[in-house]
Amino acid sequence: MGAQFWPVTENFAAEVGDVDLSQQLSAEDVAAIRQAFDRYAVLVFPGQDLSTGQHLDFARHFGPLETSIATHRTDTKLRVVAEIADVSNLTPDNKVWGAQSRQRMFQLGNRLWHSDSTFKHTPAYASLLYGRSIPPVGGHTEFCDMRAAYDALPQAMKDKIDGLVCEHSIFTSRAKLGFTNFSAEERAAMPPVPQVLVRTIPQTGRKCLYLASHAGRVIGMDDAEGARLIEELTAHATQRQFVYTHRWRVNDLVIWDNRQTMHRGTAFDDLRWKRDVQRATVEDVANSCVQAGMQVDLQAAG
Ligand code: OGA
Ligand code: MN
Repeated sequence: MGAQFWPVTENFAAEVGDVDLSQQLSAEDVAAIRQAFDRYAVLVFPGQDLSTGQHLDFARHFGPLETSIATHRTDTKLRVVAEIADVSNLTPDNKVWGAQSRQRMFQLGNRLWHSDSTFKHTPAYASLLYGRSIPPVGGHTEFCDMRAAYDALPQAMKDKIDGLVCEHSIFTSRAKLGFTNFSAEERAAMPPVPQVLVRTIPQTGRKCLYLASHAGRVIGMDDAEGARLIEELTAHATQRQFVYTHRWRVNDLVIWDNRQTMHRGTAFDDLRWKRDVQRATVEDVANSCVQAGMQVDLQAAG
């Protein structure tokens, strides 16, 4: 029997059974999973027992991997390999972090609605988050469907946002949390990048909002007006009818399409419980403006 799909709703989020991701997958299973991924945008694979190598091997079915932004940081050593984004609350020696941990401040950004790596010129396509250790309460991950959110916009808003481009920066989302003490070296390593506000997904032809807490300015609008527009669209897109909440079990692998969803982590007692979740991230094929045939120069846009 091949992989079995159990949709959460008709077109958003599905659980997948009868597949062992630690093994070499059949071509039929890979094709069925990729097709379901285009349709549901979030797939949950419960009960997967994976080594880091097996986690990364499965991720490579979706394309080339990113290396973690933590490799740019100078204040911490890595607990896991460079291809894994360490989303845990653990120090390199596997202890729960302290209240004053800089890593803790940094990861608070995951509590804001976002899509992964939109602050990179080439953003993330797929993220594959694996739960090795899960707190008994709290620490869920919420996902919103940016296709359904786009479809539900009034026509006047669709017309208004057609062709708009936003500036994304990791420092925009961190500033929203009051976290601004970055070195010049850290800032220089991650300059702002342009991303379209509405994407068309090549595999399905569907349009979706493309937003993240990393988005600051809208090119061609004054700063306050752009910030208001981003806030209004984010509030729209994250209404409950567009949201699936994932309650983690140990050994869940959850994969989401960053082009057509946003996500955020919910609170938990992070000074008490270990939450060891690790992410493999697949790059998109190009910057979203480039994919839309637009050449955007942020410097020239002013
Ligand atoms: C991520 C992320 C949220 C969470 O891994 O990209 O945002 O619930 N995670 O850990
Ligand atoms: Mn994320």
